[in-house]
Amino acid sequence: MLTSTANSPHTAHNRTRATFERAKRVLPLGVTSNFRYSGDTTLVIKRGSGAYVWDMDDRQYLDYRLAYGPVILGHSHPGVLKRITDQLGNGNLYAHTHPLEIDVAERIVAMHPAVEKLRYANSGTEATMHAVRIARAYTNREKIVKFEGAYHGNHDYALFSTANMPANGGGSPRSPIPVPQSSGIPTMTRELIHITRYNAFEHVERLVRDKGHEIAALLVEPVMGNAVCLMPEPGYLEHLRKLCDQAGILLIFDEVKTGFRIAPGGAGELFGVKADLTTFAKALGNGYPIAAVGGRAEVMDTIAMAQVVQGGTYCGHALGCAAAMGVLDAIEQEHALDVIKERGQRLKDGMHDILTEQGIPHEMSGLPSMFGIIFTPRTPKAREFRDVMSGNFQMYTDMAYALRERGIDVEPDAREPLFVSSAHTVADIDNTLDRFNDAIKTCKPHWVL
Ligand SMILES: Cc1ncc(COP(=O)(O)O)c(C=O)c1O
Repeated sequence: MLTSTANSPHTAHNRTRATFERAKRVLPLGVTSNFRYSGDTTLVIKRGSGAYVWDMDDRQYLDYRLAYGPVILGHSHPGVLKRITDQLGNGNLYAHTHPLEIDVAERIVAMHPAVEKLRYANSGTEATMHAVRIARAYTNREKIVKFEGAYHGNHDYALFSTANMPANGGGSPRSPIPVPQSSGIPTMTRELIHITRYNAFEHVERLVRDKGHEIAALLVEPVMGNAVCLMPEPGYLEHLRKLCDQAGILLIFDEVKTGFRIAPGGAGELFGVKADLTTFAKALGNGYPIAAVGGRAEVMDTIAMAQVVQGGTYCGHALGCAAAMGVLDAIEQEHALDVIKERGQRLKDGMHDILTEQGIPHEMSGLPSMFGIIFTPRTPKAREFRDVMSGNFQMYTDMAYALRERGIDVEPDAREPLFVSSAHTVADIDNTLDRFNDAIKTCKPHWVL
């Protein structure tokens, strides 16, 4: 296990460390989102361009964290910047409908098979919160089903049994316990949630059979973007669709991570299963704050004056919409997602080959555009979050820090995927693989294999 010093990414980063000390004096933990905190190794990044970011000491990193996914076109993408600057001189918030909101919505409706109407929000958290409310209002039921290991944002309704839950803390596989992931969540919200296990066909079937009459929605990440990108087994999403149809439950796909990344029409297109409601954020704005909840018109039209409330001062912000126009341009005109897929495949295959050559037991998971590595998996193929928990997270963290020392930034948390952008060139990928090879060689003597 590499714990510090030799590879310590913070020893020579004087300005970065000093700036982080400043941050800690005024921001709890020195960050503005808990997930960004990694103790004294937390980076302070001052700028980004294309596939690169720079810290306060002007160290350059190839970025595979991409702000946890959003930056699919690379930092400061020219097309997105152009759209933003075109809008900038015209103001950005009017509390009236404006044309960009309509333009973006029309393009999403044309692109995504499961979206007939949508409403905007500002973050993935808001989008899933609104989706749950719409589902409750539509079905006149209160409970939701959530999948162990999935994350749907910070609101109280779904902050249970995420990837941060303790290993072995989830109860029996027959009856998983909703594990609150924060103090401050009212205990009564636990009564509104049922937990099931991803890819466990039988468990969810039993749950729906026994409790279906009280369930408003199944809220699922079609690919487990917060749990090394576990993939749905063949027929699994279809199974969920069928169960929902039989029991009058709405199927919500949380595509905050997968949307506008894995395919233009997201999971709906890739797997051919249509959800009733779908949530988007991240890639839609290439890093600018815009999110959306969309779905069947009949369901979305539950939103009605003084009946079902959705909205907010900043919803449909013109700069977010302008950024989304830039993203949709790149997807449609530059085939950005094909580029990402090709580059991601090269990286994923290359890492797999290096780990195999060096005799490191591992499993690659996920899609080319977002994928994970499970070290020393105990099961031959991870199907659900409990399998992921049996991997060796420390090895992943060692690898991440060894990469950081070599100018490659990946999230040190093993559950979070690597993200690829269209700004990563073939040379960037090959360069990364060289450094990855070197990093693994350095780590290997410290690992018990
Ligand atoms: C699948 C999923 N849903 C919702 C969210 C919450 O999004 P945000 O951080 O924009 O609130 C995230 C964030 O990582 C996510 O991965």
